[in-house]
Amino acid sequence: MATEAHSFAASVGPLPWSQMDDTTKAQARALVGRLTDAEKVSLTAGADAWTTTAVDRLGIPAIRLGDGPHGVRKPHDGAGMSMFDSHPATCFPTAAALGSTWDPELVRLVGEALGRESAAHGIAVLLGPGVNLKRTPVGGRDFEYFSEDPLVSARMGAAWVRGVQSTGVGASLKHFAANNTERRRYGVDAVVDKRALRELYLACFERVVIDERPATVMAAYNRLNGEHCTENSRLLRDILRGEWGFDGVVVSDWGAAWDRMISVPAGNDLAMPGLGRRDDRYVRRALRSGALARRALDESAARILQLVGRHAGATGAGDAPDLDAHHALARRAAAAGTVLLKNDGVLPIGPSGRIAVIGAFAKEPRFQGAGSSHVVPTRLDTLLDSLVEAVGIDRVVYAPGYDRVHNESTAALIAEAQSAAREADVAVVVIGLPEVFETEGVDREHLRLPEAHDRLVEAVRAVNAETVVVLQNGSPVEMPWLDSVPAVVEAYLGGQAGGSALAEVLLGEAEPGGRLAETFPVRYADHPESWLPNGPATVEYRESLYVGYRYFDSAGEAVAFPFGHGLSYTTFDWSDVAVSGSDSSGVGGSSDADVEVRLVVSNTGTRAGAEVVQVYVHDLESSVFRPQQELKGFAKVELAAGGRETVSIQLDRRAFSFWNTSAGAWVLEPGRFEIRVGRSSRDIRWRSTIELGAPGDDGDRDDLPALGSEGREPGDLSSFYRAPSKRAGFPVAEFERLLGHPVPRNVPAGPGEFTLDTAVSDMQQTLPGRLLFRFLARQAVKTIGAPSEAPVEMVAGDVVAQLNFRMLPTVSDGLIGRRGARRLLALVNLLSRIGRGRARL
Ligand code: BGC
Repeated sequence: MATEAHSFAASVGPLPWSQMDDTTKAQARALVGRLTDAEKVSLTAGADAWTTTAVDRLGIPAIRLGDGPHGVRKPHDGAGMSMFDSHPATCFPTAAALGSTWDPELVRLVGEALGRESAAHGIAVLLGPGVNLKRTPVGGRDFEYFSEDPLVSARMGAAWVRGVQSTGVGASLKHFAANNTERRRYGVDAVVDKRALRELYLACFERVVIDERPATVMAAYNRLNGEHCTENSRLLRDILRGEWGFDGVVVSDWGAAWDRMISVPAGNDLAMPGLGRRDDRYVRRALRSGALARRALDESAARILQLVGRHAGATGAGDAPDLDAHHALARRAAAAGTVLLKNDGVLPIGPSGRIAVIGAFAKEPRFQGAGSSHVVPTRLDTLLDSLVEAVGIDRVVYAPGYDRVHNESTAALIAEAQSAAREADVAVVVIGLPEVFETEGVDREHLRLPEAHDRLVEAVRAVNAETVVVLQNGSPVEMPWLDSVPAVVEAYLGGQAGGSALAEVLLGEAEPGGRLAETFPVRYADHPESWLPNGPATVEYRESLYVGYRYFDSAGEAVAFPFGHGLSYTTFDWSDVAVSGSDSSGVGGSSDADVEVRLVVSNTGTRAGAEVVQVYVHDLESSVFRPQQELKGFAKVELAAGGRETVSIQLDRRAFSFWNTSAGAWVLEPGRFEIRVGRSSRDIRWRSTIELGAPGDDGDRDDLPALGSEGREPGDLSSFYRAPSKRAGFPVAEFERLLGHPVPRNVPAGPGEFTLDTAVSDMQQTLPGRLLFRFLARQAVKTIGAPSEAPVEMVAGDVVAQLNFRMLPTVSDGLIGRRGARRLLALVNLLSRIGRGRARL
């Protein structure tokens, strides 16, 4: 048996992807013919929380999947789905920090290191990257995503996948699609218009799928335009496989595939985790009765065999990863993702003078997000230790300033902080978002920091004008003290080497290489998402294309820090900026790069530094509404003092196209476009207008149908979306015009009307709902295995409140099956109806 398993895996992997295709596919297809129905069915669900099902009879091994994305989380044997009891692994910076590097090559190296560690841990498929857009700054998982912009997300995601898969380990691109809220995350329906879907929410996946061919794509929990992503054949079959040519495995997010009889035909091949083989009997019956098409099952089984064949051999072989080198890489990535938001000359800290390090985060950092991505690090650098090591204990004085667990301060802690600051030449105040403020499973309700953190900044600033604020957080925060401090450093969640990276940045030994990949609003209330309904049944994406800077720049609204912003310790000069490849007769030809932006970047300062050149496109005469400008290309250059380099940024046709909903295709509309080259969306340094003509007769224009009057978009029947503003908001009537149909009902389910999708939080007015909540909370803490005072334990109530009946089988570890969940739902409905009747009497 073992020999056969070995031969199947060894004959196909681990090879570079390009070499394994045809053989593996053919082998997998042939092998399906030798499987019994029971074996095929068993393959379509996990054997347990983390592994696929083996078929010993034919020597088909099981492979292991594991989180992901910024480090490997492999629970110890018997620890099940525990988020805390896992093998140590390098904790790299989270995606929020990696996205801010704007450096795909660096992200590829991180991917490669992650692949090597996965292989060493026996993980054949690493569950990442997360490439969803940050639609809102309060998203509980924003730390796990790269950007509010689809180009940045896709390029970072693609680099991550390339790195991981170069080691033979497969990736899992997640969470497909429009998974942008944690509130009611298991059942909420994202209502998205077709253009926003294509131009934003699918665009961040599209290029990654096409260019990098991730081994798997993870179907998200949420519904998308009415259908669960795991049951959405338009999404999985038509778009992902049909249009983008994806031939890998679609795996459900954990618990997202409720019924394989529905999810397999829709294109979700693998349901994770397994719910025990009991569930297989049900699927087999469906197969026998014809309710489940044999062809769909065969296709899924073949794809899973292909996955096993391609990746089983990746694990267990090779040298042990060099953890020192990975730590060093984590440090380099953390520095490269650190964004210098503001600097009135106080940074970098000079070679003499005392440094007050204030804030418990300096000693016990917040360095990663909370939830399924939680990693037990191999080691942990703190800012305090790293500074002491670098400049000597005599130059450093430390005061905690606030309580790390309860996020509160006292008069004594403040007094201690002030006295430390008074004695110092510079005060570094380290604050941010504690785990309970920001975790998978819960969205934030505002952008405020803990009150004690804000107060600490003000208290320190009052006694020392040279106050540097360092932020450790996974997503934007409001900074009420911003104008009063001379420097602010956004360190994000920088991973296990974040502390030493920060020390290097503060001391000027490393460049703060990051640029914001998301907008920092002044206040949450300025952000369109904050005005729009979220739940109880749907989230209406009424802002359409106006996400992040697309909104702020179109509406001309002030922001605290714009998209793309970040300062350097050195200075740069740009010269010889030119655009080529277009002329008044149009950009013909079939090459990918139709327009090229070229410029020479010179480092005019006295130290090495990094510059990020950003190219935005502004459509000057569109027949449809378009955001004021959109990022369509970027390049990062690292230059030594006095160094210069020619930078070339290519813009392909897609850079100028929009999704034509009538034609169901991308359309490049002839006309004038302004190319804007800048350092952020609000710091445009150079502009030029180009004219793109009608498509030439080069025979490569099938994807670009001409726009006739019938090609006009429904949204443009009204001019409303051409001029978004806070005053006008995004009224539902306008959104319905854009959608072309009324929005689905979005009302709370009353007692007795709960469905599989109703979140427990929406059942709390009934006694059965409250009892269920208590049961789930206990169960969830057990499953997750949180030690007391761990963030998940502290917010368990909020996390659990999002659960619904669809998740019962997973949360109960298969104890309650699908039928049990339905019965329980009926019972809860019945009891709450009776309860309501009683209340009326
Ligand atoms: C998360 C995924 C994760 C999976 C396995 C889910 O709850 O949404 O991102 O990969 O759990 O831990």
